[in-house]
Amino acid sequence: MEDIWSDLAAHRKRTSDIRISDLLKDTNRFNEFSASLNDMLLDYSKTSIDAAAMHMLLKLASGVEAKRDAMFRGDKINVSEDRAVLHTALRNRSGNPVFVNNVDVMPAVQDTLQRMRQFSQDIRQGDICAADKRPFTDIINIGVGGSDLGPVMTTLALAPYHDGPRTHFISNIDSAHVSDVLKGLDPQRTLVIIASKSFTTIETMTNAKAVVKWLTEALGDQHTKHLAAVSSATEATAAFGIDPTRVFGFEDWVGGRYSVWGPVGLPLMLAIGPDNFDDFLQGAFEMDTHFRTAPLDENMPVLLALIGIWHNNICGYPTRAILPYDHRLGRLPAYFQQLDMESNGKSVAQDGTPLTRDSGPVIWGESGTNGQHAFYQLIHQGTAIIPCEFLVAAQGFEPDLQHHHDLLVANCLAQSEALLLGRKPLTPKSSHREFPGNRPSTTLLYRQLTPRTLGKIIALYEHRVFVEGTIWGINSFDQWGVELGKQLAVNTLPKVENSKHTDNMDTSTTGLLNAYHALK
Ligand code: F6P
Repeated sequence: MEDIWSDLAAHRKRTSDIRISDLLKDTNRFNEFSASLNDMLLDYSKTSIDAAAMHMLLKLASGVEAKRDAMFRGDKINVSEDRAVLHTALRNRSGNPVFVNNVDVMPAVQDTLQRMRQFSQDIRQGDICAADKRPFTDIINIGVGGSDLGPVMTTLALAPYHDGPRTHFISNIDSAHVSDVLKGLDPQRTLVIIASKSFTTIETMTNAKAVVKWLTEALGDQHTKHLAAVSSATEATAAFGIDPTRVFGFEDWVGGRYSVWGPVGLPLMLAIGPDNFDDFLQGAFEMDTHFRTAPLDENMPVLLALIGIWHNNICGYPTRAILPYDHRLGRLPAYFQQLDMESNGKSVAQDGTPLTRDSGPVIWGESGTNGQHAFYQLIHQGTAIIPCEFLVAAQGFEPDLQHHHDLLVANCLAQSEALLLGRKPLTPKSSHREFPGNRPSTTLLYRQLTPRTLGKIIALYEHRVFVEGTIWGINSFDQWGVELGKQLAVNTLPKVENSKHTDNMDTSTTGLLNAYHALK
């Protein structure tokens, strides 16, 4: 494998003077450097990857198929936690069994999905109702990380499909979040879902207690009729007083950031209805099937991963921007931050040895066109080169506002073209008006942001992260890097609460604590 890495580096050195616009003089390039799945097209012709580079990159992916099959088979590929990785089972529509420890997990998956359906239908139709027998009008989901970002991102993305109760989210431990959300709501008409895989996360449990107090003040003992939970820890949910028929669990083989396909997606199912949620799962299943069966050189997740590796490891660009020209994907960059950076932000290989090359890049972004008026200056003229990943729909949902959509698409295409072509200065003295161009981008074009399309997009990126992690030799499914800060926060709390305890800390943190107590 080391040979391939050095061949790639040498190839880049040899070809780095060739501009992407010169590569595009080949009229076949768009066809050769794009891939599609039904009504979704990935164009990567505006990158510096040429046929020789792709040939070498594909060799890097030679171990991916075996690892992919091991994942789908239920092997314990999350070695540091000794767990299988089977979020794909939550959206398995094939009818085939999926085994973990020789037990087919599909009956339990279907059973939970059926319970979610029934619960959602009952809430949406008012058969399960508030303590005063009126239907619930609002839902609050309390969770953080994977128990928040998926429901937040997907409910916003699928707003045109909302015909259920309004959804609200509390994630941050900052009292501002709980306070601002509760301010606009009536406890008599609000269902609260406490979403925590572990049911121990301090932000979620603290926010849950505040919201239960708010419910209890209005409803007394009846407040339990306004509670549901999404968790694997059924003993803890029972101890919290949540009726077991309103607890929806999932197994340890579903990581938090991969959990939107099951009970964590309950707010989405409540908002858009079970049938639309089924379409969301169907879209992801179609991407899973494509990932499992398409040849590597036509396989969208594999190609997207190889493009990422080319930019990160071979060209040395340490970040990538996620730029959805689809306003309802406004939280997609944040969602992909957790998906990608919590999965691939690692510096040791699966066997614990230090990595010899960079792993996960920094993921960031914003929806277009808003981002254009904020940070595109740097993207076009800054010293850093930022590979840009555009996403755009052919159809919006507002036919009477077609002109807006035309402008949106025009902006998206114009940005990738400007990055590609750049512009020479008008006069020798106006170098500040020069656009260097030759800046890489990809574009994911899809027909419309339906539940099915959204399922496909998320699954595409999940598998991209998996392929990159596999090539880097890391475990993309643990997240030990979030532990230390959590532990230190527990130790630091007494020192924040009481100035007498500000000992045994580094001098900077002690200085900050002292200043904090002086200002408090
Ligand atoms: O931030 C770390 C993390 O463990 C994430 O992986 C997870 O999505 C989040 O915390 C929330 O965890 P839980 O669902 O157990 O509350």
